[in-house]
Amino acid sequence: MALVAGIDSSTQSCKVVIRDADSGELVRQGQASHPNGTEVNPQAWWDALLSAIEQAGGLDDVAAASVGGQQHGMVALDAHGQVIRDALLWNDTRSAEAAEALIAERGHVTEGSDTANALVNGAAAWAEATGSVPVASLTVTKLRWLADAEPANARRVAAVALPHDWLTWKLSGSASLEDLATDRSEASGTGYWDSSMDQYRYDLLAQALRISEDDARAIILPRVLGPNEAAGTGDSSRGWGEMVLGPGAGDNAAASLGINMGTGDVSISIGTSGVVAAVSPKPILDPTGLINGFASATGEYLPLAVTLNGSRVLDGVAEMLGADHEQLAQLALAAEPGANGLTMIPYLEGERTPNLPHATGSFVGMSLASMNPADVARAAVEGLLCGLADGLEAQTALGVPVSSIQLIGGAARSAAVQRIAPAIFGQEVLVPEPGEYVADGAARQAAWVLAGGPTPPSWTVSELKTFTAEPTPQVRELYASRRHLYAERR
Ligand code: XUL
Repeated sequence: MALVAGIDSSTQSCKVVIRDADSGELVRQGQASHPNGTEVNPQAWWDALLSAIEQAGGLDDVAAASVGGQQHGMVALDAHGQVIRDALLWNDTRSAEAAEALIAERGHVTEGSDTANALVNGAAAWAEATGSVPVASLTVTKLRWLADAEPANARRVAAVALPHDWLTWKLSGSASLEDLATDRSEASGTGYWDSSMDQYRYDLLAQALRISEDDARAIILPRVLGPNEAAGTGDSSRGWGEMVLGPGAGDNAAASLGINMGTGDVSISIGTSGVVAAVSPKPILDPTGLINGFASATGEYLPLAVTLNGSRVLDGVAEMLGADHEQLAQLALAAEPGANGLTMIPYLEGERTPNLPHATGSFVGMSLASMNPADVARAAVEGLLCGLADGLEAQTALGVPVSSIQLIGGAARSAAVQRIAPAIFGQEVLVPEPGEYVADGAARQAAWVLAGGPTPPSWTVSELKTFTAEPTPQVRELYASRRHLYAERR
């Protein structure tokens, strides 16, 4: 029986699952925490990975391993392969102004020209070039921030990796930057890779770092591998035996492999981020920037709408009410739809979709009738889901097929989320058993690398529970009329 390992290096923790390569059966697993913050020393991820591997009983008997990771984080390396500064993560918003500048530059702002027009033209040009309009999450904007805020560090950049690329490289034990490798899903989240032509755009990397295109070409970017192409082998000095390393993937692409999504399937994941992901056979370009036209881990496309405010909206409101998650869910379910006119706008850590990086959240429509724990809890769940429903609507507006919705991620375990989601989305939702879908998808990719062939091995997927509810379009309408009220930009 060959074993494979799947790794999920997420914002909050590192999880390792070891599964049977043929059946997908879970054999053992481990987990370790990551530090908090939006700026993290990558060494902390490596330490957590080693400790999660140890907890999972080691990798000595594992034939292949793949890493799924939080997307976009900037891991800048010098010519000796040393990390230059702490990585800036996907949810770090300090590069919001850099994003705007990059867009305006592509829109050809000249003295006296209309800035609003330049932003619209620039956004369209970026969407055309890379599939996405830059927002603070994307790596390209973090590089521009580095060039402007820390020019001495920027001059030392010899290679740029993302969290999962860097961890795959560490697992290989290589010291050569030339061995850095990634996959299409991750490359497409950098902002300097063309997802429809499958190639790096060194002109955009040059623009970000304010260097010439020739100098940009001297910077090493990870080799972009096909969906089941090996990235190398595990570091033999660690006694891991003959272990093939898969290309890995961004966490959302790995999760879609973990739950076996195909065309028409949509996953709505409520973890640290809120993500509406859909599979598309063709590239998706959205000049409005609501949808990121990323690639998938299977050779197709995985357009995403991503919010910065996911499960932590519920964490925060539970804490405010002095309730645990189960009590919060019971409170929300005890209230009527619409929470007596109370709306929560959940932009607690700024927001990415819509792009309001400096926004704050608010409760709107308070009255004596709604100032009670049940309505506050209901408004929080509805506000969180309305933000995601906007993402779903943006997908369908682009013609992305949506036939079924699966709810995944930590907050999908909430009884209130499960029962209110079909009312807000206006269609039934399917909820799989709680699981480590990112790590599972990475494990399935590792099994695919071992087996070869055009499609990943078919593993049994978990049973799905169906939830239905009477649609409540009035809740979304009220949310839509209020979402921009207090979400002013700095
Ligand atoms: C996707 C994104 C987040 C992170 C979270 O674009 O920024 O979903 O991948 O880990």
